[in-house]
Amino acid sequence: MSPWCGRPPPLSWGRAARPRPSRPSACGGRCARDRERTASAGRPCRLLPPDARPAVCAGRLRWALTRGRQETAVREARYTPAGGRVGARTVVLRTPRSRVTTWIPEDVDELHRLHSDPVVMSHMTKGVQDREQTRARITTWIAEHRVRGWSRWRVEDDSGTFMGRAGFGEAHGTGHRELGYLLAPARWGAGYASELVAALVRWHFEHLDPARERELRAYVVPGNEASRRVLEKNGFRLVGASPQAPDQLVYACGSDPAV
Ligand SMILES: CC(C)(COP(=O)(O)OP(=O)(O)OC[C@H]1O[C@@H](n2cnc3c(N)ncnc32)[C@H](O)[C@@H]1OP(=O)(O)O)[C@@H](O)C(=O)NCCC(=O)NCCS
Repeated sequence: MSPWCGRPPPLSWGRAARPRPSRPSACGGRCARDRERTASAGRPCRLLPPDARPAVCAGRLRWALTRGRQETAVREARYTPAGGRVGARTVVLRTPRSRVTTWIPEDVDELHRLHSDPVVMSHMTKGVQDREQTRARITTWIAEHRVRGWSRWRVEDDSGTFMGRAGFGEAHGTGHRELGYLLAPARWGAGYASELVAALVRWHFEHLDPARERELRAYVVPGNEASRRVLEKNGFRLVGASPQAPDQLVYACGSDPAV
């Protein structure tokens, strides 16, 4: 029986100690090593019923799943200094009164309530969004967080009640991270956004992405005075108008003002 089929190989297999077998590709029911072995031993892998024809051998699939889970855990540990989980969501960071978490697909209704509110979206360049657009955005944010460890995240209060969203996106192809945030109107004027932005700025400088600029950017529509105030209180300075987005003001922050 092939080592792939009996049990998944340990991740620590060193080349010097034991050469790593080449990855078996789709084996039509038997991996390459099985074919070699069974040709001489004359018996099939016991994990694969003779009539089963999976795309990959069972051992390889189990190994990939185990490895995938371990890699995800390592990545999340690296990107979650405040750590922990709330239900199915991972906590990315905490502020004194709120938590920033990853999304699950079921969050679409809560976010749609904000995305469909013309008052909330009046200063957002994409404007009001329908349920399908909101669902697509959550799907993208879940994938982005898995792949690169940062995206736009969900914000909740200490009791787990949804408050809005905040996090990072790509700044109009300039190579910078762009900070963004949006809270439910019931929470406005109580200092939540200022707290969140302070924590996100700290997170940014503690988790710099080597593939991107150090400076953190934020884009604000002129007239969004609350947002401008939140940024200025947290060390952002007005850089000017954006050549990539001429209808917005560019704010930049080169270092964590709290340090
Ligand atoms: C922008 C937003 C996140 C602010 O949230 P918030 O929790 O009310 O913000 P805070 O309470 O932390 O701070 C708001 C600050 O702006 C000030 N402010 C509010 N409205 C203002 C106005 N019209 N003019 C001047 N200052 C104003 C507040 O006084 C406060 O400053 P202070 O703490 O010095 O008193 C919230 O209004 C929101 O979600 N808006 C819709 C989405 C949005 O515009 N996102 C930003 C896109 S760039």
